[in-house]
Amino acid sequence: MPVLALNDLYMRYGDGPDVLHAINLNLAPGSFHFLTGPSGAGKSSLLKLIYLAQHSARGRMRLFGQNISQCSRNEKALLRRRIGVVFQEFRLLDHLSVFENIALPLRAAGIKREDYEEDVVELLSWVGLGDAINDFPRTLSGGEKQRVAIARAVVAKPELLIADEPTGNVDPQMAIRLMRLFVELNRLGSTVLIASHDLQLVRASGAPVLTINEGHLSPPKAPRKRGLT
Ligand SMILES: Nc1ncnc2c1ncn2[C@@H]1O[C@H](COP(=O)(O)OP(=O)(O)OP(=O)(O)O)[C@@H](O)[C@H]1O
Ligand SMILES: [Mg+2]
Repeated sequence: MPVLALNDLYMRYGDGPDVLHAINLNLAPGSFHFLTGPSGAGKSSLLKLIYLAQHSARGRMRLFGQNISQCSRNEKALLRRRIGVVFQEFRLLDHLSVFENIALPLRAAGIKREDYEEDVVELLSWVGLGDAINDFPRTLSGGEKQRVAIARAVVAKPELLIADEPTGNVDPQMAIRLMRLFVELNRLGSTVLIASHDLQLVRASGAPVLTINEGHLSPPKAPRKRGLT
């Protein structure tokens, strides 16, 4: 059973035109895909649809085997908890420290601080933010915020990880390091979908690539060479 199955799906914002057209997509459990396409093509819109922040205008969507059109608000909230998301605009909580931001999904899962503290500290050090553990988001650079957002998305080892331009604000070396986090998460069994403009990184990863153009999604292209994965 696919983690995600989209069938002939359309999406629009309000009364606007369709921004996604006839989307068909299956993500198998444990798969790793990139999503590329020009600015404005619909990458973020597709990801928003997948993490249930937007509705489809028509078409069918199953997430973790559940038919989304039949899910209650509560059921959707529970499904959302199984997804780790790196938002394009980070969405950190300004009144919480770096540590607290990252620990949020663990707290939401009811895990006790003493059981996750070490993991959070280790993850922070992996993303190069060991010294920023007690800092607040407003004092961080864009790239630092992005790393906090990534750490928060992966810390609870979600079944599905969705990342929107997760390396858009960091240097190429850090981008490779962050990509390793996603690869490692994928090795542990998570299904991963990453929207990225960074063609060099996408190619180096060797993962299959989905391309979206003006709201139309092309089927995955086979990897050309293996690199990070
Ligand atoms: N909140 C919104 N309300 C109305 N239209 C929107 C909204 N967000 C995006 N759009 C429109 O949907 C289309 C797809 O935008 P989207 O943000 O999905 O593109 P993208 O591929 O993520 O681009 P980028 O690479 O610049 O992030 C664009 O035409 C955009 O203008
Ligand atoms: Mg976008």
